[in-house]
Amino acid sequence: MIPISNPSARSAPPPTQTPATASTDRTSTLSAQNTTLDRPARHLDSASRTAVRLQDVTKDFGGGVLGLDDVSLEFDTGTITALLGLSGSGKSTLLRHLNGLQRPSAGTVSVLGHDVASLRGDSLRSLRREIGVIFQHFNLIGPMSVLENVCTGRLGSLKGPRLSLMMYPKAVRHEALDKLDRVGLADRAFQRADTLSGGQQQRVAIARALMQHPRILLADEPVASLDPVSARGVMSLLQEISAENRLTVVTSLHQVQLAIDFAERIVGLRSGRVVLDQSTEGLDAAEASQIYTSVSGIGPTGLGSPDGQDDGDPDHGHGGHA
Ligand SMILES: Nc1ncnc2c1ncn2[C@@H]1O[C@H](COP(=O)(O)OP(=O)(O)O)[C@@H](O)[C@H]1O
Ligand SMILES: [Mg+2]
Repeated sequence: MIPISNPSARSAPPPTQTPATASTDRTSTLSAQNTTLDRPARHLDSASRTAVRLQDVTKDFGGGVLGLDDVSLEFDTGTITALLGLSGSGKSTLLRHLNGLQRPSAGTVSVLGHDVASLRGDSLRSLRREIGVIFQHFNLIGPMSVLENVCTGRLGSLKGPRLSLMMYPKAVRHEALDKLDRVGLADRAFQRADTLSGGQQQRVAIARALMQHPRILLADEPVASLDPVSARGVMSLLQEISAENRLTVVTSLHQVQLAIDFAERIVGLRSGRVVLDQSTEGLDAAEASQIYTSVSGIGPTGLGSPDGQDDGDPDHGHGGHA
């Protein structure tokens, strides 16, 4: 066991954790949380396999801009779906509807059996605890240690402020170290977060999200700031974690190849409309090239540059692209 209160322990071997151990921990911690928190009903949508359902969802931003235009989709529990589309096609808007950062102008969004638009206050916060989010720019606190950044993933379930690592319960610190180990960074626990590479920072952000024990993970352009090798590493990690935890992952991406290699399904958006929805299984090169054309409308030359736009939405939380 690493004495996580002691930074000199950095050189100690990281703890090992099998997926089986992780799921046991998850169950015990969740039931502990359930005794103190008003969590949403833990049942799935009526189909029981469906984690997320959008029905006829339109988001009208005014001025003729439809962020989403009559979108109906379901995301099955434990699957990874890639949202593809040019900048402005509605990917972030769709993701924001899943955790209630935005509400539909028409239609319904149902997540883990809850009609998101009907939730307010505590019930909305409870649902959000079930939904981890990662961002293009990681949104770590740079000067803070890696381990403390991971611990902040539990803040939504703890009462009162935590002004230093030692203010987190020991069990939380240990679990954070386990999560860091899971993403391959236990040896960086006491390093400043802003001294890590982009790929490492995104892994820390994933470890932080896992501290919520999420059932859904939303990832808005998670690899758009990374080099190709780090990008594949992060996507591969998301794939593994999804399989281990039956985590439903919805991620926006710009590269068709990454979507094909790491997602089970591709949903293409154009001007807020779903223009493509297909399994990635057995896709050949010609079909992949057709995907570029479908979502961009401009032929297989790529999907344009990653978007850096921020819409200034007042309820746009976390200061990131989600
Ligand atoms: N809060 C907002 N207010 C007005 N228009 C918005 C807002 N958020 C997004 N939009 C518009 O909705 C469309 C979809 O945006 P977005 O979901 O950010 O696309 P993507 O993530 O695919 O780049 C764009 O035309 C964008 O300008
Ligand atoms: Mg976006």
